Amino acid sequence: MPSSTRWRAPGRVNLIGEHTDYNDGFVLPLAIPHGCTAEAVRTDETELVVSSAQKDQPARFGLADLRPDPGAGWAGYVAGVVRALQHNGTQVPGLRISVDSDVPPGSGLSSSAALTCSVATAVDDLLELGLDRGQLLAVTRSAENDFVGAPTGGMDQLASLNCTAGHALFCDMRSLRSDQVPLDLAGEGLVLLVIDTRAEHRHSDGEYGRRRQGCERAAAELGVPALRDVTDLDAALTRLEDEELRRYVRHVLTENQRVLDAVRLLRDKRVRDIGALLSGSHASLRDDYRVSAPELDVAVESAEGSGALGARMTGGGFGGAAIALVGQDDVGAVTDAVTAAFAARGFTAPRTFSVLPSEGAHRLP
Ligand code: GLA
Repeated sequence: MPSSTRWRAPGRVNLIGEHTDYNDGFVLPLAIPHGCTAEAVRTDETELVVSSAQKDQPARFGLADLRPDPGAGWAGYVAGVVRALQHNGTQVPGLRISVDSDVPPGSGLSSSAALTCSVATAVDDLLELGLDRGQLLAVTRSAENDFVGAPTGGMDQLASLNCTAGHALFCDMRSLRSDQVPLDLAGEGLVLLVIDTRAEHRHSDGEYGRRRQGCERAAAELGVPALRDVTDLDAALTRLEDEELRRYVRHVLTENQRVLDAVRLLRDKRVRDIGALLSGSHASLRDDYRVSAPELDVAVESAEGSGALGARMTGGGFGGAAIALVGQDDVGAVTDAVTAAFAARGFTAPRTFSVLPSEGAHRLP
C-alpha cells in the first residue's frame, strides 16, 4: 500500500450544453490546463487534516462525526469526499490532505470539481479502493450536493474525471454514456479564449436552485421524468401557463439540440461552424434562462464585435467566465476589444487566457 499519493484534476470550460445536465440532457465540456493537485498521506490519528497552498490555516475534522456542513468553506469539499467514502462503507484512516490549485475560484471554471476530483482520486489510490470513474463521480457529486449543499448537476466532476487531451467530452447526462470528440483547435488555426469577468458567481444561492426547481416543475406539469423527454417544444409551450417555465423549457430543449449540432459539426471537422451555436447558446441563456450577467454580456458582445466566430458564457452564470472561439490572428484584437469594453463600463479588468483541451484526472509521480 502506498504511504502517499498525488493526483491532479483539472477545471473545465463547457463548450456548449448549459443548464442541461440536471435535466438529463447533453453537455460538451473540455478540461483546461488549470487544475488542483492533491496529496494524500495516511496518519495514525483519528482526524482529517486538510491544508491548502492558497490558505493560511489547515482545517481539521474528526473522522468519527463528519456531518454535512455548508459553512465549512473550501475544506468542506474535501471533508465531503471523505464522508461520501465512509457512507459507501470505507473505513477511512487518519489522513492528511494537502491541495494546491491554480483554478481561479468563483470564476465558473469548476475549481470545486478540480478540488473534489483530485482528492477523491488521491484517496482512492492511497487506500487502494479501486473505484471506477462512475463511483468517483458519485462520491464527488455527493461531496458537493450533500455535504456542501450546492445542488449542482454533475457535469463538472464528470469533465474533471473523464476528459482527455485534444478532445471535448460529449456526455448524455441520463445514461452517463460519454464519447471523446476530437477538438483540434490549433490545427484549425483557432484559439478558445477564456474571458474571466472577475464578477464572482454564486451557485449555492437561490437562483441556480430556482432554475432547477422550475425545470422539475415544468417536467411534472408536462408529465415527463425530465425535460430531456419533451419531444414537441411547441406543444409543451402551449400547455404550460407559467411564462417563466415556458422560457426554461425553450432554453433546455434548444440547448440540447445545439449540443447535438455542435457534436455533428466537430465530427465533420467543421470546428469554425460551431461559432454560431455558441452565440445562440448565449442568447438563450441571457434571454430565456436569464442566468447571464452584464459583465458576461459585454464580454460576449465585444468578442463577437471584434472578430470572434462565436462566444458565450460558460458554467452556471450570474458572473464567472465567458469563452470565445477566435481565429489565431484575431486574438489580440478580441482581447483588446473586450478589455476596452470593460474599462468603458467601469468593470474590473477581465483576465483572458487561451486554453487547449487538456487531460482529466491523473496520477502524478
Ligand atoms: C454549474 C453546475 C453544473 C451545471 C452548470 C450549468 O457549473 O455545477 O452542474 O449545471 O452550472 O450548465
